[in-house]
Amino acid sequence: MINFVKPTLLDIPLMQQLVAQEVKNGNILERNSSEMATTIRSYIIAYDGVKIVGFVAVHIHTDKLCEIRSLVVDSEYRKNGIGGTLIEKAIDEAKFYHLESILVLTYQQKLFEKYGFKVIAKESIPETKIWADCIKCKHFPICDEIALTLNIS
Ligand SMILES: CC(C)(COP(=O)(O)OP(=O)(O)OC[C@H]1O[C@@H](n2cnc3c(N)ncnc32)[C@H](O)[C@@H]1OP(=O)(O)O)[C@@H](O)C(=O)NCCC(=O)NCCS
Repeated sequence: MINFVKPTLLDIPLMQQLVAQEVKNGNILERNSSEMATTIRSYIIAYDGVKIVGFVAVHIHTDKLCEIRSLVVDSEYRKNGIGGTLIEKAIDEAKFYHLESILVLTYQQKLFEKYGFKVIAKESIPETKIWADCIKCKHFPICDEIALTLNIS
């Protein structure tokens, strides 16, 4: 059985290990251990026993907008619904905080559309995101990810 929980700082080394390959692949933006520590409360992790098999972060940009970041599932555990459940948990968390919409930048358009996300023009991505994150990305400024949002208000 997979358990979905909030992580502690002790989970960070294994979270870093899990995401390393996807950072190399350019699917997920690198966040070092201290950045992960300062944002640890934004994460939800999936455990199979004592093994971390996936995680996601819900990063709050403004009092209305948050972003799903760093969604990853261990390659041996994919296609079993863990990624989808992490997206659902992230949506629940965003609703808990009374945010109005959720942004995601991803290559996984189909997966997010299953949960109601709709494609938006890249021009509507908030500047807070561009200057905080995109600028650090190896694909910047030629970004081929798809921007999607979900309205939850
Ligand atoms: C994207 C990612 C997190 C998805 O994780 P996952 O656990 O495989 O996600 P799910 O299992 O919920 O869904 C994946 C697919 O498996 C299908 N699926 C889910 N449960 C299934 C089951 N029991 N049997 C067969 N297929 C299943 C889903 O319908 C979905 O199909 P789709 O690809 O046609 O949309 C994972 O592939 C990953 O870590 N990729 C690399 C990092 C990345 O790209 N992250 C996204 C950044 S936003």
